Amino acid sequence: MRFLLSYIFTFLLLTQSALAQNIQSLPSFIRAQSQTPILHEGGRVQPVYSQNGMVVTADKIASEVGREILAKGGNAVDAAIAVAFTMAVTMPRAGNLGGGGFMMVYDAKTKTTRAIDYREKAPIKATADMFLDRQGNVDEKVARFSHKSAGVPGTVRGLELAYKLYATQEWADLVDPAIYYASKGLTVSKSLSDSIKKKAEHLWKSFPARDVFFKGRSFYEAGDNLVQKDLARTLVEIATKGADAFYEGDTAIRIAVDMKKNGGLITMEDLKKYQAVLRDPVVGYYRGYKVVSMPPPSSGGVHLVQMLKTLNNFPIKSEHWGAGTADTMHVMAESMKRAYADRAKYLGDPDYVKVPVKALTSDLYANRTAEGISLGSATPSELIEAGRFLPDESPQTTHFTIVDKWGNVVTNTYTLNFSYGSGHMVEGTGILLNNEMDDFVAKKGVANAYGLVGNDKNAIESEKRPLSSMTPTLLFDEKDNFYMALGSPGGSRIITAVLNVIMNVIDHDMNLAEAIVAPRMHHQWMPDIIEVEEGYSLDTLKLLQARGHSIKEVPPMGAVMAVMKLGDAYVGFADTRRFDAKASYLEENTQPIVQGVRFTPQDVYDVFE
Ligand code: GLY
Repeated sequence: MRFLLSYIFTFLLLTQSALAQNIQSLPSFIRAQSQTPILHEGGRVQPVYSQNGMVVTADKIASEVGREILAKGGNAVDAAIAVAFTMAVTMPRAGNLGGGGFMMVYDAKTKTTRAIDYREKAPIKATADMFLDRQGNVDEKVARFSHKSAGVPGTVRGLELAYKLYATQEWADLVDPAIYYASKGLTVSKSLSDSIKKKAEHLWKSFPARDVFFKGRSFYEAGDNLVQKDLARTLVEIATKGADAFYEGDTAIRIAVDMKKNGGLITMEDLKKYQAVLRDPVVGYYRGYKVVSMPPPSSGGVHLVQMLKTLNNFPIKSEHWGAGTADTMHVMAESMKRAYADRAKYLGDPDYVKVPVKALTSDLYANRTAEGISLGSATPSELIEAGRFLPDESPQTTHFTIVDKWGNVVTNTYTLNFSYGSGHMVEGTGILLNNEMDDFVAKKGVANAYGLVGNDKNAIESEKRPLSSMTPTLLFDEKDNFYMALGSPGGSRIITAVLNVIMNVIDHDMNLAEAIVAPRMHHQWMPDIIEVEEGYSLDTLKLLQARGHSIKEVPPMGAVMAVMKLGDAYVGFADTRRFDAKASYLEENTQPIVQGVRFTPQDVYDVFE
């Protein structure tokens, strides 16, 4: 152990000085930042437009980094890898190394879409009753805010798999911008400052997180410079030695040591065994468009297709229905509650349980579901299946969508689960731990933080993946040409956020910006309430109440980042529900802002030799 500690210490000193030398010469390449331009042409909010590529994320620095990679000749996957690493630094509440997610990649050359599953896994030692106290009740604190809440992280392996399959640029160059912002520091935005304040209680309890996210006893305010040195060192390791550094090297040792010290379950063996995997996307048709979305262990694709197919049975496009009418909202709510009831019953990790994907997404099932929907009155959720609970945690997943000039598309959602995960940071690494274990069913019938229930299909088992709602999705037109790519954060509201936007475009002929800005609605079966954002007509809501629906106005739901093909060009829009969101696009002659590599991996190798 003493040898190990002295090795770690020496490594820290050496890499730190190598890094320090390198960053001295790093130019600042991010230009003045601004919110996504919102163009009001003809009195309508408009998306941005480009024929040369576009990066739409919830974080303007990451969007610019992605654009820079595209300008250097990288493809959409290159840009996605750089964006994902950057967001681990610039948007630490959701961007991550210590979490997991799903990436869908459309390869324009082969016209194929692949789904990369890099969802976290339960540690080997995890057991079904690990979150139950002596009385057999779920201990929410242990499930959500302890080292035991962490699943084995998947992000770095996921990005590595995407790299191996598609990338064209040097791996180290794609980690580079993240190293830059971690070591040089980033200018704190108001939303970053606010998010730290909101999570302060948890971040303060973790000494390493306290060191990073607090200035002594005060908060970082907008305009301050935030440096994350440990994270920079971890990123240098990943840049120079690849993903193995995280799963088998020094970072893995640090994670395992930290887990042991704090009662967590993740071991070196867990990390070494972790693999990202390719899955077959869920495919279904909606009004002639092909919908290609994320399969289990996400519930997103299955229920998105299921709801759309159910809704296909109703004349939503007709002149008496349309956007925001009581008829349309009623059938949306009825389709949603039935899909979420099925989620609780049938969904889980397909490597462990049989998930009836084909049946749930079949036309027959959708048509039968639609037949069971009464147009005149709401079906009480109790009659669909039992449950109870209320969500109380703010989800902070994040989504980005990228298209390059060759027409390749990446749509990626990744997360730590809650904002800043459990709030614990692994000592010496700058890595925040996810609390994804709470996405399992800790006890049958007891809801997780999003009010979602389930059964044994999503019970905790050794090395199993917890069920997710993340819904990175692509749509193709009748000729099988790319039409749209999108996704959203929002916990249980992710699937319906994606549904709302797709319907706004396809059924209500809105442009992409209008479709994203428009108010959204959500129903998740339990609680038996239609959640609505501000902006619906009061008369409509009264008509829905008259049909037996309970309505609750809630804060903004989701943050959709999307790209669409329009003729020869792409349009994109970054949801204005996120203040830092931005759609960065390339002009015909956009040049990289920085020529050459800022950080040289060789320098670190030299130190070791
Ligand atoms: N952690 C939220 C989800 O994956 O659905």
